[in-house]
Amino acid sequence: MSATYPSITLNNGVELPALGFGVFQTPPDVTQAAVEEALRVGYRMVDTAASYLNEREVGAAIAAGGVERSELFVQTKVWVSDYGYDAALHAFDVSARKLGVDYIDLYMLHQPLPQAFDATVEAYRALERLLEEGRVRAIGISNFSPAHLETVLPRLSVVPAVNQIEVHPYYSQPALRAVHEQRGIATQAWAPLGGVYVYAAERAGRAPKSALTDPVIVGIAERYGKTPAQVVLRWHIDSGRSAIPKSVTPARIAQNLDVFDFALAADDIAAIDGLDTGVRGGPNQDELDFRTFGRTIPD
Ligand SMILES: NC(=O)c1ccc[n+]([C@@H]2O[C@H](COP(=O)([O-])OP(=O)(O)OC[C@H]3O[C@@H](n4cnc5c(N)ncnc54)[C@H](OP(=O)(O)O)[C@@H]3O)[C@@H](O)[C@H]2O)c1
Repeated sequence: MSATYPSITLNNGVELPALGFGVFQTPPDVTQAAVEEALRVGYRMVDTAASYLNEREVGAAIAAGGVERSELFVQTKVWVSDYGYDAALHAFDVSARKLGVDYIDLYMLHQPLPQAFDATVEAYRALERLLEEGRVRAIGISNFSPAHLETVLPRLSVVPAVNQIEVHPYYSQPALRAVHEQRGIATQAWAPLGGVYVYAAERAGRAPKSALTDPVIVGIAERYGKTPAQVVLRWHIDSGRSAIPKSVTPARIAQNLDVFDFALAADDIAAIDGLDTGVRGGPNQDELDFRTFGRTIPD
């Protein structure tokens, strides 16, 4: 198998790298070094968000990294405090400036706001305008459920290219992914290694449950001579998903990219699919009003 960087063709023809580098929970003071290391070892896609408050440091790494802009896929997200048409347009300008780029490859709504769906739709209309003006190459959403999609799709002119959602072996969202397939929306997996459990457990002061120590995944990893994390990332790629693992550890940053020289057999993919518990690690958008977080994005 060739070691070519795999990609997914989006519904508007743009190529989305199948593997990218995530920076959620990466503190601003270590973000630049982590992203520079990721670019140095060969990542060509970075996923950040206005609400991660580290776009500036991602931008510094892009500037220092020496990778041609056209070779990079930069994605970020509008936070809910900037929903509405004008606010979202302003948020784009702020994000682009912090990132030091004049276009963004994939610009997404970070969350649906079921409590303010009109503002959510207005923000998406701003994304449609940015797409039309060529300031973004693709537009998408994140954390939308099948019910949110059903509500929102009739109100949009452009079908989102991507829905970035929680997907890892213990929560793989087959029903939502089936809707994506019907609608031509690519699935991008956040917490692809199951990191969401790590953070929740740390907050609660208990050991995290981790698919990386699951006997099924450890057994597959032993047979392929790969690490559990590499097997899980390959499970995403071989299932047609994009994945954006996060790490601040150089050895893991390199390990997570070193997955282009093998592929999983169908029965191994099915065995990992079988680990789904149906229990999310992240928040349920319908139970939480993200506006109450009180987080606004400084210019
Ligand atoms: N749209 C959304 O609402 C949303 C929500 C959450 C995340 N995201 C995006 O998805 C990205 C990834 O999600 P995530 O950070 O929650 O979870 P993740 O990538 O599944 O897991 C990250 C955790 O796994 C550890 N790790 C990384 N590589 C490893 C390896 N090879 N072996 C063992 N452990 C490893 C990391 O530790 P170290 O860093 O200490 O190495 C970190 O604790 C985020 O950075 C962000 O870009 C989006």
